[in-house]
Amino acid sequence: MSDPTLYPVSPEWAERALMDKAGYGAARQQAQQGPDAFWAQAATRLDWITAPTVIKNVSFDRADFRIRWFEDGVLNVAWNCIDRHLPTRRDQTAILWEGDEPTDSRAITYGELHGQVCRMANVLKAQGVKKGDRVTLYLPMIPEAAYAMLACARIGAVHSVVFGGFSPDSLAGRIEDCASRIVITADEGLRGGKTIPLKANVDAALERVSGVETVLVIRRTGADVAMVAGRDVAYAEAAAGVSDDCPCEPMNAEDPLFILYTSGSTGKPKGVLHTTGGYLFWASWTHELVFDYRPGEVFWCTADVGWVTGHSYVVYGPLANAGTTLMFEGVPNYPTVSRFWEVVDKHKVEIFYTAPTALRALMREGDEPVKSTSRASLRLLGSVGEPINPEAWRWYHEVVGEGRLPIVDTWWQTETGGILVSPLPGATDLKPGSATLPLPGVELQLVDAEGQVLEGATSGNLVITDSWPGQMRTVYGDDQRFFDTYFSAYPGKYFTGDGCRRDEDGYYWITGRVDDVINVSGHRMGTAEVESALVLHDDVAEAAVVGFPHDIKGQGIYAYVTLNKGVEAHDDLKKALVAHVRKEIGPIAAPDAIHWAPGLPKTRSGKIMRRILRKIAENDLTSLGDTSTLADPGVVDDLVKTRAQH
Ligand code: WTA
Repeated sequence: MSDPTLYPVSPEWAERALMDKAGYGAARQQAQQGPDAFWAQAATRLDWITAPTVIKNVSFDRADFRIRWFEDGVLNVAWNCIDRHLPTRRDQTAILWEGDEPTDSRAITYGELHGQVCRMANVLKAQGVKKGDRVTLYLPMIPEAAYAMLACARIGAVHSVVFGGFSPDSLAGRIEDCASRIVITADEGLRGGKTIPLKANVDAALERVSGVETVLVIRRTGADVAMVAGRDVAYAEAAAGVSDDCPCEPMNAEDPLFILYTSGSTGKPKGVLHTTGGYLFWASWTHELVFDYRPGEVFWCTADVGWVTGHSYVVYGPLANAGTTLMFEGVPNYPTVSRFWEVVDKHKVEIFYTAPTALRALMREGDEPVKSTSRASLRLLGSVGEPINPEAWRWYHEVVGEGRLPIVDTWWQTETGGILVSPLPGATDLKPGSATLPLPGVELQLVDAEGQVLEGATSGNLVITDSWPGQMRTVYGDDQRFFDTYFSAYPGKYFTGDGCRRDEDGYYWITGRVDDVINVSGHRMGTAEVESALVLHDDVAEAAVVGFPHDIKGQGIYAYVTLNKGVEAHDDLKKALVAHVRKEIGPIAAPDAIHWAPGLPKTRSGKIMRRILRKIAENDLTSLGDTSTLADPGVVDDLVKTRAQH
């Protein structure tokens, strides 16, 4: 678990960094003592049409709950990410695109990005899209995904990006929830040499949901896909007929920028809503601070734009900072397990940001596929999405970074918009496995289950006591759910859902979710979603899903399934259930283990005792705890005896 070894900031880093130890201390103090002045000054990094005079207007209390930042400011996100850089950087590469095949890559300059985004904005306008309308994006990792996001931002439309790995059903649910009338997709996606039938998935989704009038289809593989007359529009043709100039819509800082669906502990995924000013500020500020980023450096975040990491650190942060952002269509092990490092060498990547799950998978392949590459261009490494175990940290540090590169282990969430807890390479001594310290302006606390504040070196639930500009503003269409989910457990505080330890140096060690969210390969999944999918199967009476430790994925999905009377349990049915969940939600939700459970441990009031199910899945049978409140304690003995292999 914890590793006490300290990796101090090197003198070179202290020297060159935008923020050193003294600067960090001073910034934290300024943000605490005069938040309005601190954030007003920091927000001048954006180009405002009207600069904000009201900086922070926040209350986490039920009676006058509100979260507003820069509320009288006016700006446009696309302007900040493109147009303002044109006078000096028209010919600088904005997006370095690396395709699935190593032979397929492309550099898009800021000048070209401007033209492409304007074209797409004009196509959207021609299809009747207006300020405030929701646009669903279901795209592979191609430059058009960034164009589409920025085109929406340019005209004030609200994008909702749905990860291309989600099923037609999941896509349909997300289209329906935000009532999109337009979907942007591609003929097919391409990942690791395999095609993904994106357009066919959209067609299937639209059989289940009404209201979509237009499907814009971008050509990626050139596959011959069915086009529905009157609904489907070939993007290339539409784009050829519009101008490559489109004015930016002036947006209020609190106008919505995007919705991104994410899993919670209950019910269907929530539409996390982020707004224009606070979000862009946070993506840009944290990208500069945490990665010590200077304009024009080659920055590679390996996340897909279907996740928040792709929003903030593939698209918005780097582009707002006049960066060169690398966008990768493929996977770490195609065509070979050296791919990441070959791409680093090919494009002279300076900052590399990935997830522990990818590192663990590559670590298994040995050091040779890494050592056969140079990686001389790298100067900083980053990690995100789940706790990084010290073993993976050390491999990343010693093998990938040859002991010379700091690692920033960044903790944050879809809800937070950007990084909240992370080392700064010039200011923070590193400890393998710790996300270390909060950024200036981020006020953390650890509390116990009753909300009692815990001081000193201790463990508890991680809460945040005050707002930061990048905080989500609501659950789309459901303010009540927003408040109930995040602000009701500990009144006056934002509850993260994570457990955490604080050590004697005040360093934070995230231990993982304490709610019914599991983190599979750095992707969030609600156990309730997987359970709902399972019980949709004709043979299933009841299901309970928990996470268990998994060597590569971080957490795996363990499903207890009670079959209907008369249905025989057998291995083919297990396979069928896994396939069923893949079809219902997507491959990332596929259970790793299925445990036939004639009964589930329930309290007398009928509540499933997940704590016990988690222990059995983890094979931690010594501490099952008190089972006396169970309606039928014998159920637990049965489950222990029949534990599934995984
Ligand atoms: C987990 C991804 C430990 C955490 C940006 C959080 C982490 C959830 C880290 C959010 C980290 C993310 N160390 N745990 N560095 N980063 N997590 O919304 O449990 O997909 O609550 O956002 O991932 O996942 P999400």
